[in-house]
Amino acid sequence: MHSNWRDVDAWRKEGLPLGTTSNEAAKMFDATLTQFMARRDDSTLGGLEGTVNRMLSADPSFILGHVLATELQIKNSMDVILSLAAKKDMSNRETLHVEAVKQWSSGNISKAQDIWDDIIVEYPTDIMALRFLTEYSIFFGPKARIRDSVARVLPRWKKEIPLYGYLFGLYSFGLEETNFYSEAEIQGRKGLELIPNDSWAVHAVAHVLEMEGRQDEGMEFMSKNEDKWKSSKSLACHNYWHWALYYVEKGNYEEALSILDSQILPRCNGDHVFPLSDGASLMSRLKYEGVDLGDRWQQLCRCWEGHTNEHALVFFDAHMLMSAVGAKDEQLTMKVMNSLRDYVRDGSGPNHEITREVGVPVCEAFVEADKGNFDKAVDMLKPIRYRLDLLGGSRAQRDVFELFLIYSALQSPRKRDQQFVRCLLAERQAKRRNSPMTDRLMAKALALQVD
Ligand SMILES: [Fe+2]
Repeated sequence: MHSNWRDVDAWRKEGLPLGTTSNEAAKMFDATLTQFMARRDDSTLGGLEGTVNRMLSADPSFILGHVLATELQIKNSMDVILSLAAKKDMSNRETLHVEAVKQWSSGNISKAQDIWDDIIVEYPTDIMALRFLTEYSIFFGPKARIRDSVARVLPRWKKEIPLYGYLFGLYSFGLEETNFYSEAEIQGRKGLELIPNDSWAVHAVAHVLEMEGRQDEGMEFMSKNEDKWKSSKSLACHNYWHWALYYVEKGNYEEALSILDSQILPRCNGDHVFPLSDGASLMSRLKYEGVDLGDRWQQLCRCWEGHTNEHALVFFDAHMLMSAVGAKDEQLTMKVMNSLRDYVRDGSGPNHEITREVGVPVCEAFVEADKGNFDKAVDMLKPIRYRLDLLGGSRAQRDVFELFLIYSALQSPRKRDQQFVRCLLAERQAKRRNSPMTDRLMAKALALQVD
C-alpha cells in the first residue's frame, strides 16, 4: 500500500473537499478508504482501526470521517455526527453523506442506497458512496444497480486518480451478476492488470468461471493468484469458498473438504458471519452430494450461537438455520426459528419484509426436510422459487437454495416431485453449461421410477 496519502488540498483539487482543515485527518481518511477498497488491513498503519483512530484524533469534528468510521462499523458515531451536523454549515456533499448514514443506521437501506446513488451522480469520483452503494446492492435491490452505478461514473474518472483500478473489479461483479459474462471477465482482468492483488477483481473473475462452467480454469486461476488474495481480511475465506466450488462441481470432494478444513473452518470464529455462511453453504452442497461431514456442522454451529437474534440480513439467518439442521441441533434450530418469528412479528424495514416473505418459508422448508418431510419442503419452496433472489448474495451463493429444492424434490416420495426435479435439472442444464454436478443429479433423477 502506498503512503503518499492525499492531504486537504489534494482532496479539494479533486473536487471532493472533506470539510476538515487537518492534513493528518485528510490523509488518514484516504488511508482508511484505501484499506477499505483493498479489503485488507495495512499492519504498518494499524489496520482500519488504526487509521480511523488517528483520523478522528486529528480532527474530532471531522463529519465525513465519522460517517466513514460509522458505516465501516468501526465506531458508532451517530450521536456525534448529528450533533456536529446541527452546529456546522455543511457542504452539499456532507449533507448528503449525513443523510445517507442516518438512513443506513435506521435500517432504511434502500433510502441510503438512493442517497449514495445521488451522491455519485453529482460527485462521480466519490468512491466512498460508490462502494457502499455497490456493497449494499449485493443484498438489497437489483444487481443491475452495481453494474450501472460503476458504468455511470467510469467515464468521469481519470486513471491518475487514486483507487481508479478498483472500479474494474466492482464493475466486473455487476456485469457478471447480470449475465454479461464476457464483458465481466474483460473488466475483471483489466482490474487485475492495474491492481494485481485486488481480491475483489479476483473474486469477480472467479464468479465468471463458475457461471460458465470453466472449473479447470477456475482452479488454475485461484491457485495462480492465491498469493495476491489470501491476505485479504474480508475476502480470503470467500475466495477459498469459490475455489472449493469448482471441486464440488467436478465431484472431487476430498479437495473441497481439504479447503473447508484448512481455509474456511479455521476462519470461522464467530466474530463475523460472512465466513460462517461460506462454511454452511459449502457443507450443504457436500451434504446434498452425499458426503459425510463428521462433526464439522457442530463446529460451525458453535460459531453461530452469538448471532441468533441479530437478524441483520436474512441471507445469514438462512445459512444459520442451514447449519443448525445440518448439525441436527434441535435446540439451535428452535432458537433460530423462534427468534425469526419474533422478528417477523415485531420488526420493520426491508430486511424484515424479505424475511417474512421469503426467509421464513425457506427456513421452514429446511426444518421440514430435516424431519424427512421432503414433499412439504417442496411445497414451501415451489411458490417462492422465483423470489429467492430477494435473499440477497450472489447467484453463486443463492444456488445453494436451488440445490436444496432439487435435493428435496429428489427425496420426495411423490411422483409429481420426481417429475418436477427433472424439469428443474433441465432448466439448470440450459442455464449452466458444463456442470458435472447437474449431470450427476440428472442421472439420479432419471433413475427414479416416475411412470
Ligand atoms: Fe462470491
